[in-house]
Amino acid sequence: MGFETIEFKKSETNEYVGVLTINRPKALNALNSQVIDELEGFRDEIAGTDLRVIVVTGSGEKSFVAGADIKEMKNHSAEDALRMARRGQGVFGLLSGMGKTMVAAVNGFALGGGMELALACDVIFASEKAKFGLPEVSLGLIPGYGGTQRLARNIGVSKAKYFALSGDIFSASQAYEMGLVSKVFAPEELMPGAMKFADTVASRAPLAVAKAKMAIEDGLSLDLKAALELEAKCFSEIFNTEDKTEGIAAFIEKRQPNFQGK
Ligand code: CAA
Repeated sequence: MGFETIEFKKSETNEYVGVLTINRPKALNALNSQVIDELEGFRDEIAGTDLRVIVVTGSGEKSFVAGADIKEMKNHSAEDALRMARRGQGVFGLLSGMGKTMVAAVNGFALGGGMELALACDVIFASEKAKFGLPEVSLGLIPGYGGTQRLARNIGVSKAKYFALSGDIFSASQAYEMGLVSKVFAPEELMPGAMKFADTVASRAPLAVAKAKMAIEDGLSLDLKAALELEAKCFSEIFNTEDKTEGIAAFIEKRQPNFQGK
């Protein structure tokens, strides 16, 4: 993959797992338009592959992603800003909608667009050194890559406003207490912990994992009755898979399942 601002490496021990690194360390991995374009290119290259889990992290010790590139926005008109927000939201949507599990391994600053990238992932793990925030209001802006919407859906309206209206920076343990982060690791344990989780998810029936993710996400915009019906339909559809037959047979025969993603 010939990218300059992102790097992708397959796991050496698991063919279904890979690590995507945002790689502009001099700008604390800020998301300029090249990064956004390359993220779309990355998505196009891997969407049809049998990769199951992507761990997303930032290059260097200091930052996951310190936001959208502020310098690039200096002369933006309102129309440019609309295009930019739709573009970033669209690319994050493509990444989260690939049917693969996305795990954010937040190693440092996850601010603005960086926190929004983490929010577009399915699970967020953090190093003790990670810092989270939506500082846009301190720049005279608001979040534009999904932060106001995904954060409120994720941790609730009141806590989302705590982030978005204050612009304050929160520690990993505060983000954990607010329910944004699933687990906090010592810095050197973050990638091993994220990879262990990725291996676990990759070992599960892939169609079932993708279906469970879809049921949770699509159900969020429905009322409970409709959402439960969606779940029932998804539950039914998974019974058409070979992996369901294999999973139940393996349980009864007291052996490990051999899932094929069919
Ligand atoms: N955009 C562009 N460049 C950035 C950047 C960003 N979001 N964040 C950091 N950088 C650059 C700095 O300009 C600096 O570059 P130079 O060496 O060329 O001056 C380099 O990265 C290192 O940054 P600092 O010297 O500022 O490092 P620090 O340790 O003193 O501070 C920081 C770290 C607190 C993260 C600080 O860099 C910062 O506040 N960054 C901006 C965070 C932010 O406001 N993010 C939201 C952006 S808006 C957005 O994301 C909108 C949206 O929702 C789509």
